[in-house]
Amino acid sequence: MNSLLDIDHLGKNYFTEKGEISAIKDITLKVFNGEILSIVGSSGCGKSSLLSILAGIDKATSGFFHFAKEKPVIGYMLQNDALFPWLTIYENALIGLKIQHKDTLEMREYVKNLFRKYNLAEFMEKKPDELSGGMRQRVALIRTLAIKPDILLLDEPFSALDYQSRLAVSDDVYKIIKKEGITTIMVTHDIAEAISMSDRIVVLAKRPCYVKNIYNISLTNKQTPIDNRKAKEFKEYYNKIWKDLDVNV
Ligand SMILES: Nc1ncnc2c1ncn2[C@@H]1O[C@H](COP(=O)(O)OP(=O)(O)O)[C@@H](O)[C@H]1O
Ligand SMILES: [Mg+2]
Repeated sequence: MNSLLDIDHLGKNYFTEKGEISAIKDITLKVFNGEILSIVGSSGCGKSSLLSILAGIDKATSGFFHFAKEKPVIGYMLQNDALFPWLTIYENALIGLKIQHKDTLEMREYVKNLFRKYNLAEFMEKKPDELSGGMRQRVALIRTLAIKPDILLLDEPFSALDYQSRLAVSDDVYKIIKKEGITTIMVTHDIAEAISMSDRIVVLAKRPCYVKNIYNISLTNKQTPIDNRKAKEFKEYYNKIWKDLDVNV
């Protein structure tokens, strides 16, 4: 399989008034074309640090990463949907295009089509506060897709939602990502969410993090995330990853 992204001995230290904090010790990892790769690790282990480096918002202290494609378009989505309350859903979805100077008639048509394709067309003229949290997260995804990203970076995209919506939205988001065929890195601390959605899971050790284990997720009758939770292998993966995380309560 071809890799879209190679991460090579990447490390990150923060320099603060209180001294140096090592967040990422060493991450070496390939991300393959078209896969959904989840990164699981305990809170504060360095997951968000990694994504913000890959998104180009922050810089690594050591090591490097390389995209197979020149000037890749990166879609970056956080747990907070970051929709502007004074703009309609449709106007919100055009923001990425405006920032990138790609707000053409053709691209507007592309965005409208995304809304139609994913049954969100009737909400286009609404304001964000008229929508449920789950619906807003789907809109945030459409906005991210509007720039036609080569890779999606999702940082705990469902953690602000209640359990029921989280299941429903992760199912929807999974279907959209797979249909659009976009390579995705999803950070989560939810083991079940990771198993139900991913092709592979990277487990990070505690801070400063390094790659502790990588699992290829192979489930009998792999379907959508909600159904995948019923697969007979599910529990086995869960137990292994739980053990890797070495949670002390
Ligand atoms: N801008 C920053 N300055 C200093 N320390 C930071 C900064 N961002 C994150 N950290 C520290 O780096 C570690 C990893 O943080 P983070 O990547 O946000 O973890 P995670 O997303 O896995 O919860 C934490 O100890 C955090 O306090
Ligand atoms: Mg985080």
